Amino acid sequence: MVWRMGTAIRTHGLSKRYGATLALDSLDLEIEQGEVYGYLGPNGSGKTTTIRLLLGLHRPSAGRAELFGVDAWRDRVAAHRRVAYVSAEPFLWPSLTAGETLDFLGKLRASTSGVPSIQSPRVDLAYRDRLIEQFELDERKKVRALSKGNRQKVQLVAALATRAELLVLDEPTSGLDPLMEMVFRECVQEAKARGQTVFLSSHILSEVEALCDRVGILRDGRLVEQGTLAELRHLSAQTVDVTFSGPLPELAPLQGVHATRTGPQTLRFELAGSAGPLIDALAGHQVATIRSRETSLEEIFLHQYDTSPEHVPS
Ligand SMILES: Nc1ncnc2c1ncn2[C@@H]1O[C@H](COP(=O)(O)OP(=O)(O)O)[C@@H](O)[C@H]1O
Ligand SMILES: [Mg+2]
Repeated sequence: MVWRMGTAIRTHGLSKRYGATLALDSLDLEIEQGEVYGYLGPNGSGKTTTIRLLLGLHRPSAGRAELFGVDAWRDRVAAHRRVAYVSAEPFLWPSLTAGETLDFLGKLRASTSGVPSIQSPRVDLAYRDRLIEQFELDERKKVRALSKGNRQKVQLVAALATRAELLVLDEPTSGLDPLMEMVFRECVQEAKARGQTVFLSSHILSEVEALCDRVGILRDGRLVEQGTLAELRHLSAQTVDVTFSGPLPELAPLQGVHATRTGPQTLRFELAGSAGPLIDALAGHQVATIRSRETSLEEIFLHQYDTSPEHVPS
């Protein structure tokens, strides 16, 4: 199957204010069809707000969002014909069984406006059966008797089974056990192989690392970084652990170096650029061992890209 190439998601100056809280601040995004985009950020950073705006559930305070060139707020129904959505907090009808829920969601075709659309692609029933099996979903159970993880699975199966051109997934694996997380990853890889676009919000770095072509990092409503994983790693290229045989030295702050004390005799340096200035600074001190390795995305993420000069904490 070949999709028309073009832009799946575009936002321009997209902002949302809730009272005194600026939940999203001038977001500019451009996601191509066929991309798997990881939307990473800690709790409260604005991931769900962004998704609500993409889906036309809330009105932007400023700016706009488009899905496949259609305005997500003004033309909600048209914009969502090609989209399936998994929300972070699964809201489902408690008295339906899992199977009844899938049938009902299939008829709605995950239309977030609640308006069934006859022009939408039909649910792929054979694929849905395979998903039910892979996710080990018990179709006869009432939704009210399902754990959060199992409700999440109902939502995931319903969304994936549509084979929608754009999957918008808001922390879809919270509540899934590691085995089901693997099933989820395979499904996303399969969707990508078919040319579907995936917008995946997450605070789980390994998930994003494993699945995404590009990653955007959100902090306090602002997109602070964006790029491929290789590009982001470049921001903090290496971690150097240094053990001293003598007393810990007092090092002057170095541009692009983040230093932390990790033990009585050890300092850890995270380097954004060349190791030269650090090596120069260490010369003349009683260094016992130096170990260097590539910095993980997790470390990059936790350090908030702080590359300003820092004093070595003592
Ligand atoms: N409906 C709302 N009313 C008021 N404040 C909200 C609402 N939704 C989100 N917020 C606030 O907006 C910020 C971003 O929230 P959210 O988008 O849910 O973050 P995330 O999904 O990344 O955890 C938070 O400070 C949150 O408290
Ligand atoms: Mg959220």
